[in-house]
Amino acid sequence: AKKIEKICCIGAGYVGGPTMSVVAKQCPEIEITIVDMNEARIAAWNDCDLNNLPVYEPGLAEIVAEARGRNLFFSTDVDKAIAEADMIFISVNTPTKTYGKGKGMAADLKFIELCARQIAAVAKTDKIVVEKSTLPVRTAAALKSILDNTGNGVNFHILSNPEFLAEGTAVEDLLNPDRVLIGGENAEAIQALVDIYAQWVPEERILTTNLWSSELSKLTANAFLAQRVSSINSISELCEKTGANVDEVSKAIGLDSRIGPKFLKASVGFGGSCFQKDILNLVYIARSYNLHAVADYWDQVILMNDHQKHRFADNIIQTLYNTVSGKKIAFLGWAFKKDTNDTRESAAIYVADYLLSEEAEITIYDPKVSAERIYADLDYLNTRSSAENRRLVRVVSDPYEATSEAHAIAVLTEWDEFKGYDWARIKQEMKRPSFIFDGRKLLNRAQLEEIGFNYYAIGE
Ligand code: NAD
Ligand code: UDX
Repeated sequence: AKKIEKICCIGAGYVGGPTMSVVAKQCPEIEITIVDMNEARIAAWNDCDLNNLPVYEPGLAEIVAEARGRNLFFSTDVDKAIAEADMIFISVNTPTKTYGKGKGMAADLKFIELCARQIAAVAKTDKIVVEKSTLPVRTAAALKSILDNTGNGVNFHILSNPEFLAEGTAVEDLLNPDRVLIGGENAEAIQALVDIYAQWVPEERILTTNLWSSELSKLTANAFLAQRVSSINSISELCEKTGANVDEVSKAIGLDSRIGPKFLKASVGFGGSCFQKDILNLVYIARSYNLHAVADYWDQVILMNDHQKHRFADNIIQTLYNTVSGKKIAFLGWAFKKDTNDTRESAAIYVADYLLSEEAEITIYDPKVSAERIYADLDYLNTRSSAENRRLVRVVSDPYEATSEAHAIAVLTEWDEFKGYDWARIKQEMKRPSFIFDGRKLLNRAQLEEIGFNYYAIGE
């Protein structure tokens, strides 16, 4: 197979940045340029101060420090990087459509199509084009059509190589993946990509399939993972009514090797940029083939997740004597999970929105999320004016400031540091009775009850 010397990756986001940094680390002989039209993002990737990288992931800054300027480059010159590359990864965002046909369901492929048209216009030599973004099954056919019809007569081979990394553990997942999936039609193109991964991934974990299996496997994997969370969350509500403890149930079922222990942690609801978007997309695709039973089946995973967020907020209101109006509620955590600064679709956003509609005053502390991001998340919902969001919500950089004088604390993200706080001091400085609503089952019930808190956790 052709040996790849230069790679271009379009999209310097949560996937493109970490993924290509790890390829650059593992393959020092390949020159990799990550491009993005977002100038601020590229500037941040090039920042001398590694604390300013646009994506926070444990271990990432060290890898960028090692490879950047050697064989890893970040640039806004998309055309140049396309022109020079043998292999082009498309790693742009594919969000849920917010307009027109399929609004709120289908994946918006406009960024993907723009990439295809730009590649076709610029390419003067043969290219292997790799779908790294998560895409609806059969997108490769559309890409191929655009490339072949608008190109300069060069050959394009399309591969599907979905990314399975999870945020917060991206570097670990990339260095040691459960599997790498490569779908394609051209054996030589497939081999060229296999050869790259084979630099550090054992061959038996590099799986090759046809294009459509690869594209569909990504949506399916996320649907199955999210389904496990919704399944255990549905049981958490039953636990609260019956005296069963959801952690004990998770453990008991997870020891069955057919079920397995992972992804059975009950929570305030799954968030993140992928699960909801990809299931909605799966549901939309199923409906487009008139497979309504299939669509309804997967839709239920989302409905259960919405219910879980709603009922967490409802429980806070009910427990605080049916009114939170004018009451200070402290949020610990805003990110959709620990060890990331990403807040996309975070459960915290929806819980906050619900409480704000009841006129609660929320003070938020998250170790990695900026105030600017939090206000943008709330404004994006369009539930109330941005002035109103700023009046009701305060973002602080000290957890003790967040909790002081609060009627209740809600734990929305499972950051490790929350466990080590001086909970006796927090209790001292709060209103009485002092409530904690633990949406992550993170804290120690016995310790907190001993101090005098009223402690509520999901599924207990
Ligand atoms: P992101 O929004 O963080 O990054 C995408 C980047 O692409 C943005 O910086 C944007 O400016 C850039 N971009 C868009 N169109 C462009 C164009 N035409 N030219 C140049 N740059 C362009 O998104 P992400 O989280 O990295 O996700 C990317 C894809 O990977 C999505 O399809 C997503 O579903 C998939 N995915 C994400 C994750 C995850 O954990 N975030 C995991 C697996 C797969
Ligand atoms: C997910 C997939 O795991 C990953 O393979 C894919 O590439 C992208 O989507 P990510 O969204 O980054 O990754 O994080 P993940 O660890 O899957 O968590 C998603 C959400 O589910 C988080 O809000 C998390 O808190 C929640 N979750 C996860 C639970 O509530 N309980 C669990 O047991 C596991």
